[in-house]
Amino acid sequence: MIIIKLGGSVISDKNNPYSFNREAVEVIAEEIAQFYPEESFILVHGGGSFGHPNAREYKIREGLMGDVKRKRIGFSKTHQAMLKLNDLTIEVFLEKGLPAYSVSSSSIFLIENGDIIYGDLEILRKLLEKGLIPVLFGDTAVALDKGIDILSGDQIVSYLAKMLKPSKVIFLMDVDGIYDKNPKEKGAKLITELTKEGIEHLLESSESAGIDVTGGIGNKLKKALEIAHYSDVYFINGKVKGNLTKVLQGKNPGTVIKRW
Ligand code: ADP
Ligand code: IPE
Repeated sequence: MIIIKLGGSVISDKNNPYSFNREAVEVIAEEIAQFYPEESFILVHGGGSFGHPNAREYKIREGLMGDVKRKRIGFSKTHQAMLKLNDLTIEVFLEKGLPAYSVSSSSIFLIENGDIIYGDLEILRKLLEKGLIPVLFGDTAVALDKGIDILSGDQIVSYLAKMLKPSKVIFLMDVDGIYDKNPKEKGAKLITELTKEGIEHLLESSESAGIDVTGGIGNKLKKALEIAHYSDVYFINGKVKGNLTKVLQGKNPGTVIKRW
């Protein structure tokens, strides 16, 4: 089983509210279709310009405090925005003949201290057994400490990797992989293979593109450190046709972290 994170920056334009990048998702679906059903997949997509602007407007990460009436409305609105993005994404997969199946992250995970402390994975396991492709997403979630919170797709991927031990975890991003500094800076170089020490070094100097309430590249690298205990992790450009196929064939067109 392979877990693929479809970055919000791939499936939408993070600087343009409610923009869905249908062409990018079509290419991803076509490439997955070459390997399914021999290989099984779980997909997790990010919030992009659907989730982040709402989460920020309603300050969901601060929890259920202050104007709680407005907070509850914002919590629901953020989730609904994610359902829209999930719907648009799944529609493309179905068109390509893949049985993508929506699983609302907020209905199966509980958070405490900003991370998942409980996940009901039974349904997911059964969906995989039946040949379906579960599609989860960064979402709002109930938090045991502060009431409500945001759960990133990267956190979900990390939890699923720990519990389900996939053979590969693939992060589709809008850049070619992990660079030695922000790729927008002059002279940034792509790192083809990242070590534990390399990640720790990078964590000191990272930031994300556009509006991102869940911490961007820094948190992604922290999660990658955890995931590499269980499987190889790839970071590739999800907007470049053929990249996903290469990883699924065992090549590395971006950055790889080999399982520790
Ligand atoms: P996603 O939406 O795919 O989950 P993010 O937007 O959170 O990803 O993070 C990806 C962005 O992080 C890239 O668009 C890039 O501009 C930025 N970034 C900052 N530093 C780095 C780095 N060292 N390597 C790769 N990307 C980086
Ligand atoms: C964020 O998920 C979810 C919400 C804001 C509701 P991610 O943090 O995984 O999203 P991207 O990939 O960075 O857009």
